[in-house]
Amino acid sequence: MKYRMLSWLFALMVGLVGSAAASDPIVIRFSHVVAPDTPKGKAADYFKQRAEALTEGRVRVEVYPNSTLYKDREEMEALQLGAVQMLAPSLAKFGVLGVAEFEVFDLPFIFDDAEALAKVTRGPIGRRLLASLEPRGIKGLAFWDNGFKSFSANTPIHGPADLIGKRMRIQPSKVLETQMQALGAVPHMMAFSEVYDALRIGIVDGTENPHSNLYTQRMHEVQPYITLTDHGYLGYAVITSKKFWDGLPRGIRRQLEQAMREASDFANRIAREENERAIAAVRAAGTTEIVELDAVGREAFKRALLPVHGAMAERIGVKLIEAIYRETGFDPNAF
Ligand code: LMR
Repeated sequence: MKYRMLSWLFALMVGLVGSAAASDPIVIRFSHVVAPDTPKGKAADYFKQRAEALTEGRVRVEVYPNSTLYKDREEMEALQLGAVQMLAPSLAKFGVLGVAEFEVFDLPFIFDDAEALAKVTRGPIGRRLLASLEPRGIKGLAFWDNGFKSFSANTPIHGPADLIGKRMRIQPSKVLETQMQALGAVPHMMAFSEVYDALRIGIVDGTENPHSNLYTQRMHEVQPYITLTDHGYLGYAVITSKKFWDGLPRGIRRQLEQAMREASDFANRIAREENERAIAAVRAAGTTEIVELDAVGREAFKRALLPVHGAMAERIGVKLIEAIYRETGFDPNAF
C-alpha cells in the first residue's frame, strides 16, 4: 500500500515536472534489474546513446540498472503507473501481465541454438507476440537476447537425479516451476535482486541463469558448482507504455524506433560473447567447479524435461508451440 502511494506520488511528480516547459527534453526512465556489464545492461546504455544522439538531445534516457529503482514485479507496476517509461523484463516475467504465451520461451530445450531462436524472435511469431501486449496498454518494441542457461548448485549436478529435493530459485514462470518439479526439485520464485543473498544464506540451494547474470551478480562466490546444461533460453522483450509511445511526436518516435533497432542489433550481436567472457571469468575466479555434461547426462535431462512441453501446452497454447516447432524444425519425437 505504502509502495503504491509512493509510486502514485512519483508518477504525479514526473507528470508535473514533465509539463514544466515545452523545451524540456522528453525523459525516458529505463529501469532494469541486471548489472550494466551484461548484454541487457550494455544494450540499454547503447539505446540511451543512440536515442539522445538521433533526437539531438530532445530525448533524455535515464538508465537505472541493478534493481536500483524497482525490482522485478514492481517495475511492471511502475510502467503501468507511468513512473518509468521503458523496461526489458525477461520473457519469463510476462505472466503477471496475463500473457502466458511468453512463457513458451521457457520450455526446456525448445531452441537448439541462437539461430533457431532468432527465427522466432525476428519473424512473424515474434511480431505477433509483441502485438499481443497492446490490449494490455503495453507496446512491445523488440526482443533482446541474453543466452542459454546453466544450473548452479551447492553440490555437483551431472544429471536430473542430482537435482532431486534441491530448492531452486526460479523466475516467476509456471513453465519454470513445472520444469523444476519435473526434475524432482523444489522451485522457489524470487526476485532477481534477492538471489545472491538467498544462495549465500542457504534459503535456496541453486538456481539457473545465463553466465553473464551468474557472474555479474557474483553468484559464483556462493555456488561451488555450475553445470553447462544449455537447457533453456533467457531473453527479453523491451516494452514501453502504449499511451506514452503513441503520445510522442511522430518524428521523435521514428528516431526512437531507429535507436531501438540499432540497440537490438547491438544486444543480439554481443550476447554470446558476453556469456563466454562471463564463464571464462568464473573459471578464472577459481571459486566454482564447472561441470561439463556428458552425452548420458544431456540425454537424461532432455528425457526428463520434454514432458514439460505437453504439460504446459494448454497454458501456453498448442498452436503457438506447434508454430515454433515448425519454424525451428524442432522435433519433440527425436528425444
Ligand atoms: C532473472 O530474474 O533471473 C533474470 O531474468 C534477470 C534478467 O533480467 O536477466
